[in-house]
Amino acid sequence: MAPMIVGHRGVAGHYPENTKVSIQAAIDLGLKWVEIDVQPTKDNVLVVCHDHTIDRCSNGRGRVDAYTLDELQAFDFGGWFAPQFKGEPIFTLQELLELAAKHDVGLNIEVKVDNHDVAEVASQLKNQLDNSPLAQEKIILSSFSHDIMRLLHQHCPGYKLGVLSERLRKKDWVLLEEISAFSCHLNFRWTAKRHVEKLKQAGYQVWCYTVNNPRKLKYLDNLDAVFSDFPSRFIK
Ligand code: G3P
Ligand code: MG
Repeated sequence: MAPMIVGHRGVAGHYPENTKVSIQAAIDLGLKWVEIDVQPTKDNVLVVCHDHTIDRCSNGRGRVDAYTLDELQAFDFGGWFAPQFKGEPIFTLQELLELAAKHDVGLNIEVKVDNHDVAEVASQLKNQLDNSPLAQEKIILSSFSHDIMRLLHQHCPGYKLGVLSERLRKKDWVLLEEISAFSCHLNFRWTAKRHVEKLKQAGYQVWCYTVNNPRKLKYLDNLDAVFSDFPSRFIK
């Protein structure tokens, strides 16, 4: 069976990544799931942003957590991508949850942490999800940080958890079991068919990022889902 296509950062190939317009484009394409990245601002609001700085994807400079939400809202997160998106604001997780609930679309929320207080981020995320209009089964939480995955396992019972790793390592297997993960999310470049078979035999879904050329899936025809910046290339 063909894998499900997940919009990566919305439809990042054609829209400014992780913004409302990019998520809306994925919804308009009829995608059932979208992946986005979240991290905290200075005043501990979770916002949708991949890098830890706003340098690449806005007209500002500096770390996301050096600004309050109010301050971040003064920057343009669309014009860097193309002039027609000028003025697109930073998207908050709260706004995203409301949009996803309205359209019944699933969200893979990837938590980006580096020097953050992971306990603070996990508790903020839990509060927000518990009060979210989006159904629990429409949410998968993932992160490259094993620390935050362990905290989410403790504090967010009932949510699907995805172990995220560039390539499958022994410590990923340990974590998959420890947190009773739903899925394992791997870079397709370092993933072999036998890894997928083993993971699926063990009961985990396997989702691979970031596949922008459908021909690259030739050797990985047993995946459950793939993340793509260009989902339309997969839709016939
Ligand atoms: O969650 C899958 C993928 O997005 C992980 O890598 O760097 O694109 O967030 P990155
Ligand atoms: Mg991501």
